[in-house]
Amino acid sequence: MSIVVENLSFIYGKGTPFEKLALKNISFNIDSGEFVGIIGHTGSGKSTLIQQFNGLLKPTSGKVFVNGIDTLGKNLKELRKQVGIVFQYPEHQLFEETVFKDIAFGLQKQNIGQAEIEARVKKVSGWLGIEQDILIKSPFELSGGQKRRVAIAGVLVMEPSILILDEPSAGLDPAGRDEIFGLISRFHKELGITIIFVSHSMEDVAKLANRVIVLNGGSVEMDGTPSSVFKEIGKLEKIGLSAPQIAYLMKKLKEIKPEINDDIYTIEEAKIEIGKFLRRCCI
Ligand SMILES: Nc1ncnc2c1ncn2[C@@H]1O[C@H](COP(=O)(O)OP(=O)(O)O)[C@@H](O)[C@H]1O
Ligand SMILES: [Mg+2]
Repeated sequence: MSIVVENLSFIYGKGTPFEKLALKNISFNIDSGEFVGIIGHTGSGKSTLIQQFNGLLKPTSGKVFVNGIDTLGKNLKELRKQVGIVFQYPEHQLFEETVFKDIAFGLQKQNIGQAEIEARVKKVSGWLGIEQDILIKSPFELSGGQKRRVAIAGVLVMEPSILILDEPSAGLDPAGRDEIFGLISRFHKELGITIIFVSHSMEDVAKLANRVIVLNGGSVEMDGTPSSVFKEIGKLEKIGLSAPQIAYLMKKLKEIKPEINDDIYTIEEAKIEIGKFLRRCCI
């Protein structure tokens, strides 16, 4: 088990007039190697929840265990080695003179030799398509998509067993988004690590995740496979969310042609299903 959350509640500013109950009695487990998408409205508690996973925020009540480490315990250093978090707009945190130094920043603080640091930065840069000549540039000379890849490299270079990304595609154009999600998928497949990402985009979650956790007002509203969650369009809409747009199209088609399978949530699956249908009926 990668992450165990037991009756977790979290209050910001406890005991002040600004007290805010942000997480309400949440329980779930995440297995090693899962690829989990967390969705929910702005303010539903997504960022608060993921910050519990490396002990940046700690339960007001309840427990969080990560790879067996109690986040309320003293072993935070080990915890942070195992959990890498890429925060929203991570490129805002780049600050070193060169891309190399920015990626290596976390490693420099550990007891690792310079040769090993260079080897790890090179390896991770290769994965992320960050060319050698970029490593010596200032991060401020890079494009938005490049900066984000550098920020992700700085987390991956620590070789976490759990990678968490808060809105990794926010503010990128469609090509940049596809690129980032292509990379994240590859890490999941090739490194076999647990990946948890927060997203507003139902399309991205349907395409990538094998499990979806829906937060609403600090509680877990739904938790299951993308198909089981997106099937419940009424429930999602009641809390101001929606299914991927393609699901609405497939439902409309099914109203006209009941033999069409409408349990479909990605464009790729829809292409196959509509192709099959057209061959049966019209070609
Ligand atoms: N530092 C903070 N101090 C007080 N309240 C906060 C703080 N950060 C978030 N909140 C509140 O906690 C709730 C959950 O916020 P957040 O976890 O950021 O949601 P999300 O990431 O889903 O948009 C919101 O009501 C938000 O206003
Ligand atoms: Mg957030």
